[in-house]
Amino acid sequence: MQVIILPTPKDVALYAANRVEDVMKRNSHPVLGLSTGSTPIALYNELVSRHKAGWLSFKHTTTFNLDEYIGITESHKQSYRFFMNKHLFHLVDIDEANTHLPLAASLEPDILHQDASSYDLSISSSGGIDLQILGIGENGHIGFNEPTSSFSSRTRIKTLSKSTIAANKRFFKEGEFQPHLAITMGIGTILESKVILLMATGKAKASAVKEMIEGPLSSMCPASVLQQHEKAIIVLDEEAASSLA
Ligand code: F6R
Repeated sequence: MQVIILPTPKDVALYAANRVEDVMKRNSHPVLGLSTGSTPIALYNELVSRHKAGWLSFKHTTTFNLDEYIGITESHKQSYRFFMNKHLFHLVDIDEANTHLPLAASLEPDILHQDASSYDLSISSSGGIDLQILGIGENGHIGFNEPTSSFSSRTRIKTLSKSTIAANKRFFKEGEFQPHLAITMGIGTILESKVILLMATGKAKASAVKEMIEGPLSSMCPASVLQQHEKAIIVLDEEAASSLA
């Protein structure tokens, strides 16, 4: 695990954009793993600017997102498909057919199992993820792999923890239905990525960041598993790094 501390969230986004650009330029058919949430928005803005400036084309890029809510449709403003369309896919020259988010068409166990395992199969058939972008939850989650998730888990349904539901409440209107289930890449799936880049900014992440980097390897802090990945890069701003020893 390599830890890089930069002064501001803007520096974190620029560092991440440089890594993404590097992977996209080195591979004729790059495969990116993407995440949603507040943290990567500045990264996506930067990638869109580089595309508009003519430096970066997504024509041959394939993407796999980490997760998606269950219980709201893709056209819902809080769905992760909507988020990705808004912040990246609709603003660059990517072929929509090459953008993937996990979907649970039904909660019926057989169908669900099929949907989840076909997601992992699509990732491996694409050649695997060259660079996976991650954020971290205040409780140490990666994707929606909440505390106690197995380190060898595959794509599957997870019930969101109370703290994740509370942290994401800000995105939903007063009284609006907020999903408490999601389908997420498993930790085992994430660990198969060739390179992992986790971005964390802001004071609210300081304690989870400390647990991830200095804490024991523990399913109570799912992100701590990155200590075991050969090519995991953790990019922090000074606030997110403020509790490190
Ligand atoms: C989103 C995801 C989550 C977020 C995490 C941090 O696709 O998988 O694990 O990365 O909850 O979210 P923000 O960036 O909003 O603090």
